[in-house]
Amino acid sequence: MGRPVIGVLNTHSDLATCHQHLKQRAEDVKRGVMLAGGFPVELPTFSLGEVMVKPTTMLYRNFLAMEVEELLRAHPIDAAVLMGGCDKTTPGLIMGAISAGIPSIFVPAGPMVGGSFRGRKVGAGTHTREYWDERKAGNLSDQDWLDLEPAMTRSAGTCQTMGTASTMTSLVEAMGLTLPGASSIPAVHADHPRMAADAGALAVQLADNGISIGELLTRTHFENACVALMALGGSTNAAVHLIAMARRAGVDFTLADMARAGQGVPVLADIFPSGEYFMGDFHDAGGLRGLMSRLSDWLKLDARTVAGSTLGDVIEGAMVWNDTIIRPLDRPVTDRPAFSVLTGNLAPEGAVMKPSSASPELMVHEGRAVVFDSARDMNERLNDPALKIGKDDILVLRGGGPVGAPGMPEWGNLAIPDALLKEGVRDMVRISDARMSGTHYGTCILHVSPESAVCGPLALVRTGDRIALDANAGTLELKVDAQELSRRQADWRPPASPARGWAKLYVEHVGQAHEGCDFDFLAPDETTTPDPEIY
Ligand code: FES
Repeated sequence: MGRPVIGVLNTHSDLATCHQHLKQRAEDVKRGVMLAGGFPVELPTFSLGEVMVKPTTMLYRNFLAMEVEELLRAHPIDAAVLMGGCDKTTPGLIMGAISAGIPSIFVPAGPMVGGSFRGRKVGAGTHTREYWDERKAGNLSDQDWLDLEPAMTRSAGTCQTMGTASTMTSLVEAMGLTLPGASSIPAVHADHPRMAADAGALAVQLADNGISIGELLTRTHFENACVALMALGGSTNAAVHLIAMARRAGVDFTLADMARAGQGVPVLADIFPSGEYFMGDFHDAGGLRGLMSRLSDWLKLDARTVAGSTLGDVIEGAMVWNDTIIRPLDRPVTDRPAFSVLTGNLAPEGAVMKPSSASPELMVHEGRAVVFDSARDMNERLNDPALKIGKDDILVLRGGGPVGAPGMPEWGNLAIPDALLKEGVRDMVRISDARMSGTHYGTCILHVSPESAVCGPLALVRTGDRIALDANAGTLELKVDAQELSRRQADWRPPASPARGWAKLYVEHVGQAHEGCDFDFLAPDETTTPDPEIY
């Protein structure tokens, strides 16, 4: 064609509610491509909207990553624009583009506008859980619930809280894979199509002289992402996605690396669920550039971006316009960190939690375990009076990991028993090998690794055992002696595996949470070079 061919990879579908505007936005990208002298081609991908995909979008993150890699490899594409935002779409697109080795830029879908319910700010996800608890406690009628839903989700765009979507789009911006300031532009804001067109124009430049994001990304980029994660009060889900993206780029990045990189970084962004505002407010207050301008003690400012500039160049001149929403260093949102890693005999390879949205009085806690073998078991027995669950007990859910569920769903914010809700209890220590939505809150210990389905220690816990959590010290201990655990291990039998299809492939190849849940056969392989005649 005599022009660079730009692939516009679009995660729009009629069932991806957060991405409903991406159909139009792809036209904006294409306009930018054409004005810059390129030839745009739009390629639809798996849309992975959180709201409509069963049993969990996480089961399909690697599916999207494989699809993106093969789409970019199989077609005559010189550079790509990656359009996504709802939780798994961001890491899926980036992982695939890293492996494809083609210059790419990410266009975040942007957050939806803020919600309001009877005079109170309400955010998607965060207040769904809070009001659901009130409904179960008998404080919210059917009509109240029907009124609440549209009050929380009012426009196209991703959840306007600091859930996984906003976390991942922000981290990808911090890694230099978007245009500066892109991640917080609300989906329906007039700046959003302008940003999309500019990204299309940049992709044309990248086709001529850019490097692939796999070549761009270094350990430094992932460390910078961890700094942003902490300051944003971001989602614990970032742990699996950052590690997976890093491994695709050939960077051996671990939970311990994440904890080290983010050590001491205070939560400065006052956004739900750690704070009180929305992504749109954050955008108006200066967005990620403003936030990062306050983090120069931790960030490595020489990290390169897709545009060829450095992170230092990107935040040069950035301003914060509202110190209530983007706090100064001496006035953080909370004195607890946004993310921490726990280890101990219950989680030898690690577990994660979000102290900034946990209850301070539960950070150090010992209690009786009440164990559920699966989500179904929990749903059936949680309110069984025979269990005599008290507020100081520790709820344990297993069978929620990458192999066990399969797909590691967001079950980790285990429901509080109805009887305790009626007594006014709103938080308990909860432990699982599942994940938790970034929009949720509570003293939830997540991603326990190895998971129960591969006979991690979580498989051996019994109701009545004592568990000790010290979130300040980063420890999680099952108070059962080693001999007894060995006896239980000898009796353990693995759960049945899926017999066919994607789920079978998934459980046979997925890695554990601390490894990022990627497939073993998708790790970068330096020993074989694909034949360019074929690939
Ligand atoms: Fe799509 Fe929250 S459901 S971003």
